[in-house]
Amino acid sequence: MEDKNKIKEIMKRKEEHIQIALAKDIQSKNTTLFECIKLFNSATPEINFDEVDTETSFLGHRFSAPVIVGAMTGGAEIAKRINKNIAIAVEELGLGMVVGSQRAALQSKGLEDTFTVARKYAPNAFIGANIGAPQLSKNGIGANDVKKLIKMLDADSLYIHLNPLQELVQPEGEPNFKGVLSKIKEISNFVNVPVIAKEVGFGIDEIAAKKLENSGVKAIEVAGTGGTSYAAIESYRARIKKDEARANIGNLFENWGIPTAASLFVTKNNVKIPIIASGGIRNGLELAKAITVGASMSAVAFPVLKHAMRSSEAVSDYLKNLIYELKAAMFLTGSRSVIELSKKRYVITGELKDWIRE
Ligand SMILES: Cc1cc2nc3c(=O)[nH]c(=O)nc-3n(C[C@H](O)[C@H](O)[C@H](O)COP(=O)(O)O)c2cc1C
Repeated sequence: MEDKNKIKEIMKRKEEHIQIALAKDIQSKNTTLFECIKLFNSATPEINFDEVDTETSFLGHRFSAPVIVGAMTGGAEIAKRINKNIAIAVEELGLGMVVGSQRAALQSKGLEDTFTVARKYAPNAFIGANIGAPQLSKNGIGANDVKKLIKMLDADSLYIHLNPLQELVQPEGEPNFKGVLSKIKEISNFVNVPVIAKEVGFGIDEIAAKKLENSGVKAIEVAGTGGTSYAAIESYRARIKKDEARANIGNLFENWGIPTAASLFVTKNNVKIPIIASGGIRNGLELAKAITVGASMSAVAFPVLKHAMRSSEAVSDYLKNLIYELKAAMFLTGSRSVIELSKKRYVITGELKDWIRE
């Protein structure tokens, strides 16, 4: 039988994440370091702006632009509305979305529809299922459970999030990552969709990237620092729960992490699998820079949240504008297509140089 208190607790936690993210300043004080990447202006683009084509493909799926709405939520009534509004928008625009951690749906069947609403309203769009790496430990969620999560959404991929800092700060956290890589390997071999490993806003370095590639993941979403700080979100929660020790760790490490542009460089230089740039991507120029230096796709999470609280139209307008900005950057670099953009020249300046050894 399902433990009603446990379910209430999960729903409350999911609501708190959203409320805190919207009400407090939980954006990192770091920058992504995309400002250290400069693209070259083309004074002779020989292109009609209307012909610039942002379409691309990723893991066998067509996208109208290299944009996925990053993993955020599920497991509460408000989450259902958010996932629905995102789903309607990505279906309309031919983009993709990832749901938040589906552990809640395994713990309570009653919460399933807060996730499945995504597939209901996005029957054709790319959808990512999602589960946390620490929950895959020996006595946790098994390979068969994971299959259920994929089936529940008829998902096109499975995202496994790696979140050591979040687990440290979260009052209910499970900061035990022992055996996680072998579990990822087991699951990658077992499930019939590509597994994508992601961070939650603190970045992935080349060592982790190589280990993940060797464990069979088919893509990596870097989720570096420069955008949402989950340490800040959990720190607020810990403080509310009077868990001062965790709250302090959250404050101390609020700006911890590998800046997104640096994480993108070190991962793409060391693995062959495609990389999704994410963590603080806030406009189409940053998105264009990410593609130019080697990302296959981008993901944007927090900025979509406030629009998803309002309506699917608001999400759609936001994403359309992001793609319009990308198109502008493509036009100005003389790129007709995403492939052309990915071959353009760029310059690396400032602090980003300190992070990478090209
Ligand atoms: C409210 C909120 C909830 C999130 N929940 C999850 C989650 O359940 N699973 C996950 O993999 N990432 C989760 N994330 C992290 C995002 O997917 C993303 O990696 C991070 O926010 C950085 O991207 P951004 O700067 O564009 O927000 C969450 C982010 C936010 C803002």
